[in-house]
Amino acid sequence: MVLKGKDLLSIHDLSCTEVQSILDLAKELKAKQKQGIEHHLLKGKTLGMIFQKASTRTRVSFEVGMWQLGGMGLFLSSKDLQIGRGEPIRDTARVLSRYVDGIMIRTFSHDDVKELAHYATVPVINALTDLLHPCQALTDIFTILEYKGDLRGRKLAYIGDGNNMVNSLMHACAKVGMDIAVATPPEYAPDAGIVADAMADAVKAGSKITLCNDPFEAAADADALYTDVWASMGQETEQKIREKSFAGYQINADIMKVAKSDAIILHCLPAHRGEEITDEAMEGKQSVVFDQAENRLHVQKAIMALLMSDI
Ligand code: CP
Ligand code: NVA
Repeated sequence: MVLKGKDLLSIHDLSCTEVQSILDLAKELKAKQKQGIEHHLLKGKTLGMIFQKASTRTRVSFEVGMWQLGGMGLFLSSKDLQIGRGEPIRDTARVLSRYVDGIMIRTFSHDDVKELAHYATVPVINALTDLLHPCQALTDIFTILEYKGDLRGRKLAYIGDGNNMVNSLMHACAKVGMDIAVATPPEYAPDAGIVADAMADAVKAGSKITLCNDPFEAAADADALYTDVWASMGQETEQKIREKSFAGYQINADIMKVAKSDAIILHCLPAHRGEEITDEAMEGKQSVVFDQAENRLHVQKAIMALLMSDI
C-alpha cells in the first residue's frame, strides 16, 4: 500500500497515517505470533542485513522476524563484505539489489545510509546510524501504547545524551501527538536540525517538545521515562569525560518520585547499570525494558511487511 517499495531512513519521512499503519500491523502480527497463526507475508523474500556496529537485539529480531514472515535474513558483517575493503556503497547497493528484496543497515554515517538508499532498487531500512534509530523509536511508542492505551497527550521524559535515540524519539512523539521533554547536559543537546523538524511536526499534532538541562524538570508528571547510554557506539574513548558531564542524568528512585506514580521506565538497551540507570530502576516494577526489547520483533516485522509486500 502506501509504504510498499519505500525506504525507512527516518521517522520524519513518514506520514502520521504511515506511522499508525506500522503500529496497527505490529499489534496484529504480535497477536498472530502469540496465537501460533501463520503469517508468511514475506514468503521466499530475503533481507540483506549489513552491520558495521555491534548488535544483539537488532540482529536477532530482524533475522527471526524475517523467518517468522516466511523469508530469510542474511547477516552481512562489514568486516567480511568488500565494503570493508573499500568497495563503494553505491556499488554495494546496486549489487545487493540484484539478490535481495530489502536491505537493512546499521552503520556510523547517516549519509552512507542515504547513499545506499539512493542507489538501491529495493527498500532500505535504517537499523541505527550516529544520527537516528527509527526502528527502536517506533518500537518504543508501540510499547507505550500497549501500556497506556493511548499516546496523544501523554508525556515522555528523556534523560541523558542528545543522541540518535532521542533524535528518533522526538520524531516519533511528534508524529503521534505525544509530548516529549528532554534533559541533557548543555554541551550534549540533541541535533538542532532534528529538533526543528520534530517541532514542525509537533506544532501540526498539537504536542510539545521541550529541551532543558534539569532531569527533574523533564521528568515532572511524565507517563514514561527513557534513558540511553552516556557514550554511544563509536564514542568509547569519550567514556571517562562523559561520566563527569552526565553525573546526575540517571533514572533512579529519586527521579521516579516526580513522574506519575504509574510511569513506566524504558531503555533501548544495552544498559550500563549505575550510570544512566540504577539496577533498582531496571529491575523494578515500573521497568518495561524487556517487553520493549521483545517489541522490536513485532514492530520490525510490520515495517518489513509494509515495505516489502503487497499488503
Ligand atoms: N537497542 C538496540 O538497538 O540494541 P542492539 O544494539 O543490541 O541491536
Ligand atoms: N545510542 C546507542 C543506542 C544503542 C542501541 C548507540 O548508538 O550506541
